[in-house]
Amino acid sequence: MIKFPGLIDVHVHLRDPGQTEKEDFFTGTSSALAGGFTTILDMPNNKIPITSIKTLIEKQKIAKEKIVCDVGFYFGSLGENLKDFNKVQDKVFGLKIYLNKTTGNLIIDNKNLNNIFKAWTTNSPILLHAEGKSINQVINIVSETGKRVHFCHIGISSDLKQIIKAKENRLPITCGTTPHYLFLTEKDAKILGPFGLMKPSLGSKADQNFLWKNLKHVDVIESDHAPHTVEEKKSDHPPFGVPGLETTLPLLLTAVFENKLSINRLIELCFKNPKKIFNIKTDKNTWVEIDEKEEYIIDNKKLFTKCGWSPFNGWKVKGKVKRVFIREKKVFENGKLLVKPGFGKVVTN
Ligand code: DOR
Ligand code: ZN
Repeated sequence: MIKFPGLIDVHVHLRDPGQTEKEDFFTGTSSALAGGFTTILDMPNNKIPITSIKTLIEKQKIAKEKIVCDVGFYFGSLGENLKDFNKVQDKVFGLKIYLNKTTGNLIIDNKNLNNIFKAWTTNSPILLHAEGKSINQVINIVSETGKRVHFCHIGISSDLKQIIKAKENRLPITCGTTPHYLFLTEKDAKILGPFGLMKPSLGSKADQNFLWKNLKHVDVIESDHAPHTVEEKKSDHPPFGVPGLETTLPLLLTAVFENKLSINRLIELCFKNPKKIFNIKTDKNTWVEIDEKEEYIIDNKKLFTKCGWSPFNGWKVKGKVKRVFIREKKVFENGKLLVKPGFGKVVTN
């Protein structure tokens, strides 16, 4: 048995309120515990977007009643709510900006980017959904403003190359990648159809190899847990996104077993760096116990996420979460949740 600190996932979409047919605060945080995560940070691109203090406070109130692990939030912007930034900065862990096509209606007009950067005055990072040329644009603004940014879900070699170069120039930049870019490619996307559809899209085998080879330049592994119902995925216009909270850790532990990653590096990517970058308070009596030798098959039917599917269904993995403790209380054991909705805390910066 190995013991890890309670892991931190800085990138999830729990869909509550507004789209609770896909996921809600209870099922999403149960899924986190089953996957070894005790703190997660939720994105603002909901049907009711988190772009005002009112929707943020309402969301935190709803979460408080339902969550079983700790949850923090990000603020979103289309460039229309700059006056609200001061009021929310101590309530969130960063500002999320979308520059490229994805789920939700939060894509900004590029000409607003400068003003948004100027208005975010706290030290918490600005998080970017940026691909290709957008990355270059952001890097230029970072060199002008010195603002701290985190590039989310980087999976393509050309995107990572730009970030490596900017980091070499000592700009205050961090980045994350996701398990789907580490373990899936466009070949899998063909087989998975809509269930392998997400933004950014899966890359080639060469992109994947580049990512593994350059993992030392990546700061964080984030699940980008983005549940959608099976019906929606099978529809004529399937939405982008795949769930990931329950599969991230077993996939990474399997990679450790295959000598592709060290245990220390795993803890850095899923605990130490997220904690440092997003300034997350943690508790020494919050931990995860893992049977590193137990092999099992990822099974859609056994998932806690409400969407009930995973692009990794049927994969054999090694390393199973056995018990999870939060603030000394046993909250999860052998596939069973042991606490009631409301046990988790809404955390703030
Ligand atoms: O595939 C994605 N799904 N990428 C995103 O950036 C958003 C997410 C979602 O909310 O479904
Ligand atoms: Zn996302």
